Amino acid sequence: MDILIKNIKQLVQVRPQSLKWVAGADMADLPVLDDAYLYIKNGLISDYGSMKDQPQISPDKVIDATNKFVFPSFVDSHTHLVYAASREEEFVDKIKGLSYQEIAARGGGILNSAKKLQQTSEEELLERALKRAWEVIGFGTGAIEIKSGYGLTLEDELKILRVAKRIGEETPLTVKTTFLGAHAFPKEYSREDYIKLIKEEMIPAVAEEQLADYIDAFCEEGFFTVAETEEIMEVGKSYGLVPKIHANQLSISGGVQVGVKTGAISVDHLEAMGDEEIEALKGTDVMPTLLPGAAFYLGTSFPPARDMLKAGLPLALATDYNPGSAPCGKMPFMLSLACIKMKMTPEEAFNAATINTAYAIDLGDTHGSITKGKIANVFISSEISSYSYMPYAFGANLIDQVILNGEVITQ
Ligand code: NIG
Ligand code: FE
Repeated sequence: MDILIKNIKQLVQVRPQSLKWVAGADMADLPVLDDAYLYIKNGLISDYGSMKDQPQISPDKVIDATNKFVFPSFVDSHTHLVYAASREEEFVDKIKGLSYQEIAARGGGILNSAKKLQQTSEEELLERALKRAWEVIGFGTGAIEIKSGYGLTLEDELKILRVAKRIGEETPLTVKTTFLGAHAFPKEYSREDYIKLIKEEMIPAVAEEQLADYIDAFCEEGFFTVAETEEIMEVGKSYGLVPKIHANQLSISGGVQVGVKTGAISVDHLEAMGDEEIEALKGTDVMPTLLPGAAFYLGTSFPPARDMLKAGLPLALATDYNPGSAPCGKMPFMLSLACIKMKMTPEEAFNAATINTAYAIDLGDTHGSITKGKIANVFISSEISSYSYMPYAFGANLIDQVILNGEVITQ
């Protein structure tokens, strides 16, 4: 199957070769090609160029993209997509003034999600998660990271990761998985015993079944301390899992520094950042990942994106799609929040949500830009005036067609 998309008003995020990431002032640059064609063959981006040089071929399918833009699919590098049920009763508690920690202390929060998930069969969980996976495909996402962390028992954590893997088999999404047993402390265990369970039973079982690429911990006051996070990351690493940390969401938790120390591929959230945390990230390979949907929903402060860019850091942008702090998997809305609430420019936001998130889940060689030889994961916009219209018109549905692995997706 080959596809020629022609008369593209603008082809966005065209990178001649695979880059590691874009950082600091370079994030202001989003390379485009006007009046372009894109040729897709055998699931890959085979060629692109200016319409005046369009190839004289007869492909299986021709798509006319007059007045439309073509973007690389979003890479959503942080989600908790596999969960049993929504938590809108907590939403109401929150509206009435309770804090995230107060809701958790009353039996809400992560433990509430874990209880519901433990009572849900693997098949049922898959069915619910598949709906969300198809939903985000329609929002322009082509690759996604999915965490466990709502199981909190050996069997239930494995169940989530198996479901996450099956999403990669049953949808066209490219899926990476993360073991987040260290998400909260279940009431049935002492702190020490739960950490022991993570280290001695859960991590070995996850590794044995090859269910995860990464290991994560919620390093936060009231959750996992820096020392506990480090201990868990080190055991994970000894089983081949790469650290990726929930850091500095509600307080300056030390999560950033422990991420740097343990060689994390990313540290995620970063709502609470001081100069020392920014300094700690400089010159490292750790991708700072911002999740503005969580700050928006919880009403916390937004990460200081401009200070981080000024310091020359790269930034990535993901949804955190989960029932407790970010019940939204829509990447274009994250771009709007990045621009409106964190003063990122549209160019910075698109770079953060494509090439930089691809790095954050080791997909930089195959995803995140319009590059010859990369996987043909792209979407065609509706008729819009410029790429900036997408973050500007927050909440609008501006995606006309989705192509994943070189196939047109019909839902
Ligand atoms: O990334 N912060 C920790 N975990 C999720 C929220 C979990 C929940 O409240 O269910 C997050 O925001
Ligand atoms: Fe999260």
